[in-house]
Amino acid sequence: MSEIKRIGVLTGGGDSSGLNAAIRGLVMKAADYGYEVFGIQEGWKGLVNGDAAPIGVSDVREMIYIGGTMLGSSRTNPFKKEGDVEKCKANAKKFGLDVIVAIGGDDTLGVAHRLNEAGIRCIGIPKTMDNDVNLADYCIGFDTSVTVAVDAVERLRDTAKSHRRILVLEVMGRYAGWVALITAMAGGADWVLIPEVEPDIDAMCEHLMDLRKSGRPYGVVVVSEGIELSGVDNDDKAEVDAFGHVRLGLRGIGHVVGRKIEQKTGIQTRVATIGHIQRGGSPTVYDRYHATRLGIAAADLVHKGEFGKMPTFLEGTIKIVDLAEVAAKIKTVPDSLYRDAMTLFK
Ligand code: F6P
Repeated sequence: MSEIKRIGVLTGGGDSSGLNAAIRGLVMKAADYGYEVFGIQEGWKGLVNGDAAPIGVSDVREMIYIGGTMLGSSRTNPFKKEGDVEKCKANAKKFGLDVIVAIGGDDTLGVAHRLNEAGIRCIGIPKTMDNDVNLADYCIGFDTSVTVAVDAVERLRDTAKSHRRILVLEVMGRYAGWVALITAMAGGADWVLIPEVEPDIDAMCEHLMDLRKSGRPYGVVVVSEGIELSGVDNDDKAEVDAFGHVRLGLRGIGHVVGRKIEQKTGIQTRVATIGHIQRGGSPTVYDRYHATRLGIAAADLVHKGEFGKMPTFLEGTIKIVDLAEVAAKIKTVPDSLYRDAMTLFK
């Protein structure tokens, strides 16, 4: 059992639906244990700048259905600027934070791991619409994002059908193809391009033409923003964030794919990019429930004094894993799942 009085909680990286549900679960369970909770504003930025305030049960009671994050978020990396880790330590001490629960993706959780090693006790919770946190079958926000993207596929299919066109949908997801793949499978799309697999534009176009020949003169293609295409140069001078990521959406890869389809097949093609529409809005029931469970599990971990760890849904149940392992790599789409998706494109 740990000598804990006060927990700090923060949300880092891109926002996603269900963050408030996790904060709510944490605050509610912390109250049972008699712990105070301080909300650190805008991710690690708030710890560097000393921006935190108490949050209690009345602040979170009605947050279950609200999208975004009540704490704000940023992509601040305290290991990027000299002196920032010391500021984090000083502010953790100033606010009397005995442990910090960091809700985020691989970047935020990587910082949590390093700070934990550096002496600021941290616990993680996996969150990202990209669904690519290692050792996490589920990341907060993923379900809402794919639900929105599947809705987009269905709307685009209507237009594709009316105009006998190909409609390309570009989705976010960064270097992992989870969002694109699950959207394509659940939305009944006709092809998917993900970063894990080299795009075969010829095979895709051949399939789209075969569909046309067989009497189905339209189709929907889902493209992940992170795919690499020969002939498309990445901008070496592109601005990167504090974790070294470029803004993939600026490459407009969906439009490049759309142009290639039109050139190769002669079928009129249009492109839609869903972008941040996938990140906001009221969370699905799945996100509300699972995020709540993770928030409660994090408070339980605090109570057990298990730091440098993360509660996570793995193989259908909540397991506790080491942040060190979580931070080691991202979780990408396995080939077997990609092959299952390909089997549906007939
Ligand atoms: O990591 C979540 C994510 O939505 C990625 O899918 C996307 O590439 C990125 O964030 C966009 O980041 P920002 O909101 O900073 O433009």
